[in-house]
Amino acid sequence: MILKNIGQLVTMESALKKSGRRIVKSDLSIISNAALVFDQTIKWVGPQSELPKKFRDQKSISASGGLVTPGFVDSHTHLVFDGDRSLDFENRLSGMSYSEIAAQGGGILTSMRATRAATFDSLLKRSMERLKTSLSQGVTTIEIKTGYGLDFESEKKSLDIISALKKRSPGTVMSTFLAAHALPPEFKNRREEYITEITEKWLPRLKSKIDFVDIFLDYGYFEKADAEKLFSKAKKLKLPVRIHADEIELSGGTEMAAKFGALSADHLLKIGPNEIRVLANSEVTATLVPTTAFFLKSNQAPARALLDAGARVALATDFNPGTSPSQDISLVGLFVALELNMRPEEILTGLSLNGAFALGLQSRKGALLPGHDADFVIHQSDSISRFFYQFGQRKLDVQVFAGGKRV
Ligand code: NIG
Ligand code: FE
Repeated sequence: MILKNIGQLVTMESALKKSGRRIVKSDLSIISNAALVFDQTIKWVGPQSELPKKFRDQKSISASGGLVTPGFVDSHTHLVFDGDRSLDFENRLSGMSYSEIAAQGGGILTSMRATRAATFDSLLKRSMERLKTSLSQGVTTIEIKTGYGLDFESEKKSLDIISALKKRSPGTVMSTFLAAHALPPEFKNRREEYITEITEKWLPRLKSKIDFVDIFLDYGYFEKADAEKLFSKAKKLKLPVRIHADEIELSGGTEMAAKFGALSADHLLKIGPNEIRVLANSEVTATLVPTTAFFLKSNQAPARALLDAGARVALATDFNPGTSPSQDISLVGLFVALELNMRPEEILTGLSLNGAFALGLQSRKGALLPGHDADFVIHQSDSISRFFYQFGQRKLDVQVFAGGKRV
């Protein structure tokens, strides 16, 4: 198949060579009046006038002069949950903090109760609908965490749902084991025992269903020693790690990410100059989730300082019922532009290539180069900022292809 009449094709060739750091506009490596030859993977990209003879009689479709970008990579979501958190939200509006609500048994535990109670089939159905919503916006690769089960059977149920989504989705789904999301009531005041239980029993038994291991290392949740235990075991099992770091307070999450060579450190609202230096000098991707900071009425992460220091910055929705009840990838772009002062080329890289880095998938996702997966978005527009500067209820003018197939 050939995609022709591409006004501008964003290949990300130079951004990939620069490992997603210090991105300037020319790193998008845009080809004007381009064509793209693909089946499940990309066979050829270049100016349409240079299309090799051997491809010329293949079936073609037209991009009608639009912009074509890599499919978006949402590298941080908690998409499998039941119930909602509107009551928590009301409590926050009357002055309670996220931490106070959690301390009274609300917060993550509210979602845990609903998720435990949900049947496999109903939870799968809701999750599949959400996945389709993301796909329709151009999110062709998505990471999904467990962490609303918090007992063995319910964490397994969540992983089985993610496995079912992997099979059913035309896009790519990656699973993250986040049993270390909150302390379940069965282990009240026994945090260390819970960590031992999930590390020594659950993780090895569920290993075949897991792509990554994560922990919510923060004030009121888990501590550095817990991450040490869990991540040491993950390394032994050859599972890559990622981390919820320094969101509520500076708690050592970024430090642990560097120590264990995490693929990604996420949130980073409370980091300072030391952590910025650590991230800039490591292979850890700094993943920012601006809709969460907005919803928590918190400060935003120091995006400019991270970028200017040379860190690789990815952007994600953090879609979850408590702190980011939005799957809208274009809204992330808007917040990043307005509140994180990132430039359009940094935003586009953060939503695609650097998300792929955060998942260890940069050799086949997040760029449109020969050999990479044919995951791309045709925008009925000639500029990426048109994708995210408008907001609110609207139909996104995009056509989405995942693995070479129209979604
Ligand atoms: O990424 N920070 C931890 N986990 C989620 C919130 C989960 C929840 O409140 O349900 C987050 O913000
Ligand atoms: Fe999260």
